[in-house]
Amino acid sequence: MKFPHNDIISLLDERLELNLAESTNRDLVLGEIWDEAFGAGLKALTLEYGTSQGSSLLRELIAKKLQVEKDQIVITNGSAFGIFLSMLCLCEIGDEVLTVQPNFPPTMDLITGLGFKRKLLKLSFEEAYRLDEGELFQSISERTKLIILVYPLNPTGTVHSLQKIERISNRLSTEYPDCKLLIDETYRESTYGKNRVIPTAAGIKDNIITIASLSKCHGTPGLRIGWLHSSDGNLIREIGIAKMNTVISNSVLDEYVAVQILRREPEIFQARRIHAQQGLELTKQWVEVNDPFIEWNEPLAGALCCIKLKENKFNLRQVDAFYQLAKQSGIQLANGEWFGESKRFFRLGFGYMEIDKLKQSLKRLTTILQETAAEKV
Ligand SMILES: Cc1ncc(COP(=O)(O)O)c(C=O)c1O
Repeated sequence: MKFPHNDIISLLDERLELNLAESTNRDLVLGEIWDEAFGAGLKALTLEYGTSQGSSLLRELIAKKLQVEKDQIVITNGSAFGIFLSMLCLCEIGDEVLTVQPNFPPTMDLITGLGFKRKLLKLSFEEAYRLDEGELFQSISERTKLIILVYPLNPTGTVHSLQKIERISNRLSTEYPDCKLLIDETYRESTYGKNRVIPTAAGIKDNIITIASLSKCHGTPGLRIGWLHSSDGNLIREIGIAKMNTVISNSVLDEYVAVQILRREPEIFQARRIHAQQGLELTKQWVEVNDPFIEWNEPLAGALCCIKLKENKFNLRQVDAFYQLAKQSGIQLANGEWFGESKRFFRLGFGYMEIDKLKQSLKRLTTILQETAAEKV
């Protein structure tokens, strides 16, 4: 098998009542954006093939938001397909792709799945998952054709500064001009309340590719719409050809809905950001109350964070018991091992569920922490 099994697949295939594992903001229901004009447009929609680069109108709206040219954008089937197309087009067998760990599992597994050499730079909880530029450059070689950084990082909500990305890009262009820097901005616009949205890296340097999607911040992962930006016209052409040779085009239905979502983006974001802020506040209080058992690094963006079960309270058998009891209580958790962390960590999504359900889940989890920490196994 080319791709290893990773239990993150259970997020798609098994859904427990209390879902603390999900990384998206609140799901959007079509009714939220439905009006007469929407319905009329839908009725008149011709179900033809889309274009290889993706809907012109959709690219125009994305280009406006990123302040780039629409011809520099390809619409992808989620960010996931942007990562796939970038690796496919930029690497040959024998080339290396470098990324960070912990990370979104498919990003790490795709490298070996496509037959390239995988290099992972371990980031640590103790250092708040900060990226050390010196260490990054020590891991790069002449065979490294693609570096993937995630901004903000899944599963931790860590954010690098744009200046750091710029410094890395500058140094790469002089020392490794054949290597591109892909910035995965899937969670960039998932912020809290009125916090400032972190700036995009799109268009700041020629060796940077950015990808993002409507999955997390807009709460529409089932739409499978994302985008890739590069100011390298040849790469954009190659990516369009690779897309045509794999999935032909995006679904025109998805693209139509995506346009309607982007037109209503301010309202969609406002509701989700207020909700995520409430979720974050509740999570903060919960972490404080449970200080004897757990610790964390507060996230800077993304409706997710990583929680660590303290070593002095949980041996590895107690960690297993914790997951088991959570599952029995109907709580879905994302095990740190899925992301290349230890199982002592779990990802907690605080922006997905309704607030009452989040409260209920955290309360149950407090009891589970107490019970498993007390259990001597
Ligand atoms: C960091 C990161 N990148 C990419 C993706 C893929 O998202 P999508 O293809 O739904 O846009 C995810 C999904 O969890 C993610 O966490």
